[in-house]
Amino acid sequence: MNPHFLEIKSLAKRFPAKQGELTVFEDVSFGIEKGEFVCIIGHSGCGKSTILNVLAGLDAPSDGEVLMAGKEVRGPALERGIVFQNYSLLPWRSALSNVMFGVAARWPGWSKTRVREHSLKYLHMVGLKDGAEQRKPAQLSGGMRQRVAIARAFAIEPKLLLLDEPFGALDALTRGTIQDELLKICAETHQTVFMITHDVDEAILLADRILLMTNGPQARIAESVRVSIERPRERGSIVHDPGYYPIRTHLVDFLVSRSHGLSGSANSGAPGSGHQGPPRIVDPAEAARGASSLGSPSNAIGNAVSNRPSHAIGKGPSNAVSHSTSNANGATDDRSVESGPLLRAVNL
Ligand SMILES: Nc1ncnc2c1ncn2[C@@H]1O[C@H](COP(=O)(O)OP(=O)(O)O)[C@@H](O)[C@H]1O
Ligand SMILES: [Mg+2]
Repeated sequence: MNPHFLEIKSLAKRFPAKQGELTVFEDVSFGIEKGEFVCIIGHSGCGKSTILNVLAGLDAPSDGEVLMAGKEVRGPALERGIVFQNYSLLPWRSALSNVMFGVAARWPGWSKTRVREHSLKYLHMVGLKDGAEQRKPAQLSGGMRQRVAIARAFAIEPKLLLLDEPFGALDALTRGTIQDELLKICAETHQTVFMITHDVDEAILLADRILLMTNGPQARIAESVRVSIERPRERGSIVHDPGYYPIRTHLVDFLVSRSHGLSGSANSGAPGSGHQGPPRIVDPAEAARGASSLGSPSNAIGNAVSNRPSHAIGKGPSNAVSHSTSNANGATDDRSVESGPLLRAVNL
């Protein structure tokens, strides 16, 4: 099997605790292909940001390793761009200057004019123009600041873009607009993206695959859910795709009902545990398509859940995760589920 562009192998993170140590997550293995957009979803505290920081080279794992294009990630580098929820802009610099700062570091040989033009191109791409380029972060709205952060990350043309709940603090309208811009830019640039989100609808709109993480401690990535909905995707029409609700129901079902039961050590032998190695691949949309053509939901689901994950690393068995049967039936039943109240209820 060809190595993946990004390979995460048996990652674990432990912190010293009052009694021994706290294992936040363990046995986390997955791969990301070049140009792929992968989202990760899991309850608060399961270790998503820690994984992202390890991928960025900002944190070191207790066990395991991360390889990007075959090279071990050992520290931060400009070939990885990061956008955090809280923007992290330099407050004394203008929007343009914040972007130029990274661009000048990335291409030290460039003239100031070239750095400026390149930076302006990306600011315009995220819709910042008409003088907003010259304003300092305090003079910009939350949505505009996040646009600057996104432009800054894209402008260095990173091999890997890491997004940690980048739209979490934005109002729904601004969030939607920036999601559209992100979709457009990714379609143009074929950017490889790893993104944390707590919003299932956002994940379905943006991702090729969604990794589902169990609750911590000893969290794991239980499933890799394929978003087999064709691109280009549009926020307004994606909900009418026959695959949309089967995927959405599967994700919500995991978060509400299964993420807790699957938590615990991979090796503990506790009920629901025992899953080791790469995440199980699930394709709820394919299952629903199969169900409607065969009239047999159970067969369809069985066919769409693979024990031989192509995106995953290694060939370890992946046999212990009990999968939901709600996906095929949920295609029509679950349209009343709204992400806001439901996901607030599960306290993501
Ligand atoms: N320096 C630290 N010492 C002890 N525990 C930590 C430290 N940093 C993070 N943690 C714990 O690791 C867990 C995962 O944190 P985080 O990656 O931020 O989760 P998420 O992003 O999924 O909400 C949390 O329970 C947090 O308390
Ligand atoms: Mg986090």
